[in-house]
Amino acid sequence: MQVIETLAIPHGDAPLGEEQQQQAINAIENGKVIFLPQLTFKLTALEQRFLSPNYVDPKAKNISFDIHSHTLCGVQGSPNDKQQLQAMMKRFAIQARQLVEHLFPHYQTALEQARTSFRPVQVSDRKTSYRKDDKRLHVDAFPATPNQGKRILRVFSNINPQGEDRVWRVGEPFENVAKRFLPQISNPPPGSAKLLKLLKITKSYRTHYDHIMLQIHDRMKADETYQQQAQQCEVRFPPNTTWIVQTDQVSHAAMSGQYLLEQTFYLPVTAMQDPQRSPLRILEKLTSRSLI
Ligand code: SIN
Ligand code: FE
Repeated sequence: MQVIETLAIPHGDAPLGEEQQQQAINAIENGKVIFLPQLTFKLTALEQRFLSPNYVDPKAKNISFDIHSHTLCGVQGSPNDKQQLQAMMKRFAIQARQLVEHLFPHYQTALEQARTSFRPVQVSDRKTSYRKDDKRLHVDAFPATPNQGKRILRVFSNINPQGEDRVWRVGEPFENVAKRFLPQISNPPPGSAKLLKLLKITKSYRTHYDHIMLQIHDRMKADETYQQQAQQCEVRFPPNTTWIVQTDQVSHAAMSGQYLLEQTFYLPVTAMQDPQRSPLRILEKLTSRSLI
């Protein structure tokens, strides 16, 4: 199984030809990782100091930035540090948006820009509960932020200054994952989605789709046999490269690496070239019911 689609594009702001755009949209909707080996994100001389775990709040694993409200979370440092970190992350957020708009002009009007994150902590040293352990194969689903069927599209750039790769495992296609775990998943207790919203545990209504995706996420991570025996391959992303993945669809695990920038986008299923390939439509087909 080929999981990587390599595209030779040197700049995120250069318009692509029709053929490359088709290649990109087909690859992303088929659940591949789009790998852009020439695309680097450059730090200024002053920003080099942020390549240290010292600026992240020890209670958080990432520094995150919201381009809409201009807020930075999970950071520690002087007001000057915070202002420069914010400028760096905003630059990445803007470049990631331009990149995605050039690669997928089809998505442009529907794309919602969500959080930007900077991940300065060594992945292999991180100790967490199994649910939060991204070293286990999983598809992304967020407990507090139901995405109600929307796609999760993420742009990653490895900015490691010491030559260290970001090492992932990539697992089996989404439909196989869903077929394996769906039989274990029961309905949520009646009224629980309303209650979660009322208690502000979720930011919006947790649809049946969100319930299933969260259950798949948790059950994949909890299943030791699955972690070891599921079809998978190692993928290494060297420093100064960029890659794009729909992490709700692609089973993935981050095994090691330090210093990563990441931008999340949400995309309504109806904006896809072929909505039938979305986790929402695949789960609806397998369960024979509407899930949002
Ligand atoms: C993840 O999305 O599971 C982690 C990706 C990474 O930090 O490399
Ligand atoms: Fe993930």
